[in-house]
Amino acid sequence: MIESLKNQIKSKLEQYLKKEMNLDIDIVVEEPKNASLGDISVPMFSLVKVLRKPMPEITSFAIDVIKGFNLPITEIKAMGAYVNIFIDKKKLSLNVLKEAYTNNENYGNSEIGKGKNVTLDYSSPNIAKSFSIGHLRSTMIGNSLKLILKKCGFNTYSINYLGDWGTQFGKMIVAYKKWGDLETIKNDPINELTRLYVKFHKEAEAQPELEDEAREAFRQMELKNPEYLDLWKWIREESLKESKQIYDLLEIDFDSYNGEAFYNDKMDSVITELENKNLLKEDNGAMIVDLGDDMPPALIKRSDGGSLYITRDLAAVFYRKKEYKFDKILYVVGNEQKLHFEQLKRLVDKMGYDFSNEITHVNFGLYLTNGKKASTRSGNVVKLYDVLTKAINLAYNQINEKNPNLKDKDLVAKYVGIAAIVFADLKNFRGLDIEFNIDDAVKFEGQTGPYLQYSSCRITSILKGNEIDINNIDLDLFLKPHYFELVKLVSQFKSMIERAAIETSPSIIAKYLLQLAASFNKFYSLEKINNEDIKVKNTNLALVYSVRVVINEGLRLLGIHYVDEM
Ligand code: ARG
Repeated sequence: MIESLKNQIKSKLEQYLKKEMNLDIDIVVEEPKNASLGDISVPMFSLVKVLRKPMPEITSFAIDVIKGFNLPITEIKAMGAYVNIFIDKKKLSLNVLKEAYTNNENYGNSEIGKGKNVTLDYSSPNIAKSFSIGHLRSTMIGNSLKLILKKCGFNTYSINYLGDWGTQFGKMIVAYKKWGDLETIKNDPINELTRLYVKFHKEAEAQPELEDEAREAFRQMELKNPEYLDLWKWIREESLKESKQIYDLLEIDFDSYNGEAFYNDKMDSVITELENKNLLKEDNGAMIVDLGDDMPPALIKRSDGGSLYITRDLAAVFYRKKEYKFDKILYVVGNEQKLHFEQLKRLVDKMGYDFSNEITHVNFGLYLTNGKKASTRSGNVVKLYDVLTKAINLAYNQINEKNPNLKDKDLVAKYVGIAAIVFADLKNFRGLDIEFNIDDAVKFEGQTGPYLQYSSCRITSILKGNEIDINNIDLDLFLKPHYFELVKLVSQFKSMIERAAIETSPSIIAKYLLQLAASFNKFYSLEKINNEDIKVKNTNLALVYSVRVVINEGLRLLGIHYVDEM
């Protein structure tokens, strides 16, 4: 509401200056910190600079122009170098509440992505390793971005680019042949394979020749050694089963599971193209592409002929451009792969294509446990499934204590536990490392997912058994700061969603929801919602109803369920 009014003032004023005076000026529109000065404030410095007239003349000129726009404004006045505007709070508030009330889960829908395609590459665990909490970030950020982009009208295509090819399978095969036992593996595939992988690295410290053996085994795989390929296929299926357990729990799905191996037969043509464009050169038996002074070269083919991660990604990006006609492709991958994606973009440039600016590395920080990175190699691995189960159990205990007679306790505990984990992640700006504390995340108070669910429940119980007559409300109430503050926040939902989409940052929505919930809880402590005065009561109910619309839909955009009772 204020957002859209601000935009209107900005664009109308800019258009006016362009049309009437042939001036190209960027008009800034702000919100004064102190609401008693006005709701919107337009600094006049840029106009003074260009028009070279005294400030009072400029401000009164601007006031006349803005008055001519016929906007819902009650007062407009000059204060020094600013034009301060008081908006018609009653009219605007009524519009916001009606909009939320009639649109419900469609409130906040945007059309900024209409007709545009976005391909998202996320989750992408490496098979034969257990699905670690490190992959949670990619999964949750990617899933939330998909939901946010859809809400903004984009067509999305989500890809789980499984790490199902590469030298690690050579290691796995060597380890299996040396120390593995088929029966043991079949009983507990991922754990046993992880054990073998860890053992390989340990042994290779003392016997570096194991690395050569692994390279040879991988080469055999690339040459389609049937025994190795069978083993690989089986490992891939078992791993996917484990990952799917987690996706099912989190209710996440993908449009495609085409992983790295899918591109095995699609690399040759890319390599030929690099050759034809004279970009490929030999370097100690390997094939590389120079990418300039500011970046190490890209290793395209190893000296033993083995294929590489970057080569597969290069083949994949061309395939996807053709197949999905993306306007943007988002790679939700950790900070440690920054260089990889810079190289990918540079390669696309060097080959003479013009779409490298559509490639975005949606980077994120590490997940730390006690200050240390979780890794599969050292065996210091945190299993996501275990973490989720633990959170669900903790949620169950809390619910059981607070509300022992609750129906569907198991389902509620599942939603609350997942909310705890997901929100603890998404509330942080994604670029940062996260130190994760499960006990804090599950709490019903503080900056947590369960706190938001709890706020929504509170509103549900207030609304229970009440009819809201949106046409019989007391508009004067919106002149009170704590009312208007809440309306204003509700009105910002759409612009928050759009910002989250543009900045590829779910944390914008998460933080905004915390602010909204805090503002609601303050309102709740100040007002008797079920007031004796029917008009006041209707106003209160319509207002908290709109807050619930935003919390519930906002949670959905993060990949979290709301609950009606907990
Ligand atoms: N499997 C990789 C990893 O876990 C992530 C893949 C990311 N996507 C991509 N197109 N490179 O490190």
